[in-house]
Amino acid sequence: MAANLQSNRRTYNDYRMALKNEVDIDGWRTHARALLQAGVAPDRVTWTVAGRSDGRQLDLTGPAALPEPDADRPARSIRIAKPLLSLINTGLLHRNEDRFDLAYRLLYRAQSVPGLHGNPADADVLKLNGYAKAIRRDIHKMHAFVRFRKIGDCGAGREQFVAWFEPDHHITEAVAPFFRNRFTGMDWLIVTPEASIAWDGGKLSVGPGGRKEDVPQEDVIEAEWRTYYAHIFNPARVKVAAMKSEMPMKYWKNLPEAELIPGLLEQSGARVDAMVAQPQDTVRFAERATGSAIEPPASLDQLYQMLQQQTDAPMEKFAPTLVRGAGPENAPIMIIGEQPGDQEDQQGRPFVGPAGQLLDRALAEAQLDRQQLFLTNAVKRFKFTPRGKRRIHETPNVGEINYYHWWVEQEIRLVNPEIVIALGATAARCLTGKAVKIARHRGTILPFIADRSLLITVHPSYLLRIPDAQGRQVEYAKFVRDLEAAAASVRQDRASG
Ligand code: URA
Repeated sequence: MAANLQSNRRTYNDYRMALKNEVDIDGWRTHARALLQAGVAPDRVTWTVAGRSDGRQLDLTGPAALPEPDADRPARSIRIAKPLLSLINTGLLHRNEDRFDLAYRLLYRAQSVPGLHGNPADADVLKLNGYAKAIRRDIHKMHAFVRFRKIGDCGAGREQFVAWFEPDHHITEAVAPFFRNRFTGMDWLIVTPEASIAWDGGKLSVGPGGRKEDVPQEDVIEAEWRTYYAHIFNPARVKVAAMKSEMPMKYWKNLPEAELIPGLLEQSGARVDAMVAQPQDTVRFAERATGSAIEPPASLDQLYQMLQQQTDAPMEKFAPTLVRGAGPENAPIMIIGEQPGDQEDQQGRPFVGPAGQLLDRALAEAQLDRQQLFLTNAVKRFKFTPRGKRRIHETPNVGEINYYHWWVEQEIRLVNPEIVIALGATAARCLTGKAVKIARHRGTILPFIADRSLLITVHPSYLLRIPDAQGRQVEYAKFVRDLEAAAASVRQDRASG
């Protein structure tokens, strides 16, 4: 009986802190600060969220007023270590209803236990870390699996897109800046069951959630996605379990390319057999594509050494020097050009001639440090036609681009960048396996193999060839903007964990 009275009293004396909605993080922060300053222990606090139909949160008593600050004693000073704050900010986006309690409890306990957030054995720390991990994964999936459908044009060259997505947690508002940075040049709306976010070229807005039926399910771009996916699907490398873990089946229903997976899997055995049965000279290429004949190199040094030793590389019209990529081996951004030019061939380094100098200027304007990037080329040797003493650049053909494809793929694997920037049509073809309309795709950050991003833009030598100064200036500014979009995407990926 005494215990009952005690627990009743505790319930009615709870400080009930009201939050406006599930993502009222600012409200939680304000309340948490006031509670901490008043020294209120976590077990005396109940968090309520407007609109939640939860019997536990029934308003029976009205909130108790927080204790008045003691005039003789200054308000308690609050200590919050930055990593704890960041852990809490992420963890509060979790769907579990205990997250507000958990975060306040940790904050309260951290006042008397410095470094608490760094103790992996602490049950609260462990739990909130688990929440934060789930959020990072959910955000990552939303970045990768939102698929826009074109719904029209809104004048001034802007197109309108809409997408449907079902996140597991309350992350929709949090990912809005990421999509604004990636898809700056188009108007878009992303609808989820709980909230929608929109960008009109000037303003990001948040609105109510919606229903899947209200979002168009198909557009022309999806046909391209399907073709692209079917193209990059390598039957000899199918790892169904890994594929399902990277692209969990629950997302398949909203992905245009996913419709292809069962069919492609079914055909994969036959396609591998067909590869093996190819006549000799095509088998050499197919073997590269599957990685079965040549052991993938373990380092960039080994890669370039192996490539140097290949006796079947296209050499007619090519200078013999193999120009290696340059930059840190773990660079977050990899830039791929067409092929070395005259000066690159002479110096054995990429992007040191006039196009390289223009690239340097644009990188600096986009706040990118060349020393932090990995620069390389789709084709590793200089193709030219001699004219007198001069060597005139000649564009590599499709066969020559294809020859180097596997080697470029290995460079990407070894450097492991977050984003690959393709400069011009040759690089774009090398990476996508098809002719790409640069004007159409430039500046948009596209999902790329192994969870990377791909940004396609013009080649700096195209800018050098524009005859009128004004046109050159306009195009150059667009080029800088494209590079900025790549930089922003890397920053955003990091910020969202
Ligand atoms: N153009 C390229 O594509 N690559 C270089 O290295 C130099 C010019």
